[in-house]
Amino acid sequence: MTTTTRSSYYSAGEHPHPEYELNRLREQALVFWPKELRNLQRLGLRPDMDVLDAGSGPGFITEQLLQNVPEGSVTGLELDTGLFEQSRSYLASYEGPRLNLVRGSITDAPLPDARFDLALARLVLQHIAEPAQALSELGRVLRPGGRLVVADADDALWGSIHPDIPGLAEVMELRRRHQAQRGGNRYVGRAVPAMMRAAGFTDITVEAIAVTSDELGMAALAGHLDVRARTALMVKEGVISEELVARTESEVTAFLDDPVSSFMLLMFLYSGTKPAGEPR
Ligand SMILES: C[S@@+](CC[C@H](N)C(=O)[O-])C[C@H]1O[C@@H](n2cnc3c(N)ncnc32)[C@H](O)[C@@H]1O
Repeated sequence: MTTTTRSSYYSAGEHPHPEYELNRLREQALVFWPKELRNLQRLGLRPDMDVLDAGSGPGFITEQLLQNVPEGSVTGLELDTGLFEQSRSYLASYEGPRLNLVRGSITDAPLPDARFDLALARLVLQHIAEPAQALSELGRVLRPGGRLVVADADDALWGSIHPDIPGLAEVMELRRRHQAQRGGNRYVGRAVPAMMRAAGFTDITVEAIAVTSDELGMAALAGHLDVRARTALMVKEGVISEELVARTESEVTAFLDDPVSSFMLLMFLYSGTKPAGEPR
């Protein structure tokens, strides 16, 4: 793998519990989507647009986009061969001119210039070592006047939990370090607006999207608190202790049994426009 194709996300066959991770991605896509869609529409998503889903993974968001551009098209761009194949079978019923699935890197996209009206890069910049290069590539493939939306997190503002799960802070710190060692950055959110500006985008906006157990029910979010499954690769690689995982797991059980428990996750939508009429 060259530096431009390095990803801190799990590659095919790497996650010890792939079905858990797939389910977590599906859950994460579905819980955020209604609020995300409202924001995307406010930011200019229209039914006839050509949309790029950059870092499309198993295709859950690609599917939501397809359903919301009935007169347009969606291109999914995915680095990992396993996830790319998974998205092909998941989206088989949409096969046709409205769907294009491409294997390649967001930092060196095998896509033509000025092809898309809107590009969404959802939870992918935190996994790459060259996010600025990715933003400049996304600018290249957008049409003049096109809109870029980056949906990502910043771990300093990840959400909230009540009552506290004491072991969680340490688990998250170890996860941050593990992801950083693999070339990712769980604090990427705060750097996105300036990187967008440097890549030539204008009209930068930032929105926070919250999903909460109070609105959706704890079951909709509980998969994110499955500490054992989420840390399985870290345990395998010896970067977290079994003792910390077991302790935090029992704290999570107590949290889930507590009738006053409340859990919120935050994601940020950063958007910018590619100036009309300016060659890139
Ligand atoms: C956390 S998943 C998010 C998937 C999807 N965007 C979603 O929101 O459900 C991150 C995805 O980005 C992909 N990815 C990582 N680095 C990439 C790169 N350089 N180019 C394209 N995709 C990449 C990963 O393989 C993975 O599918």
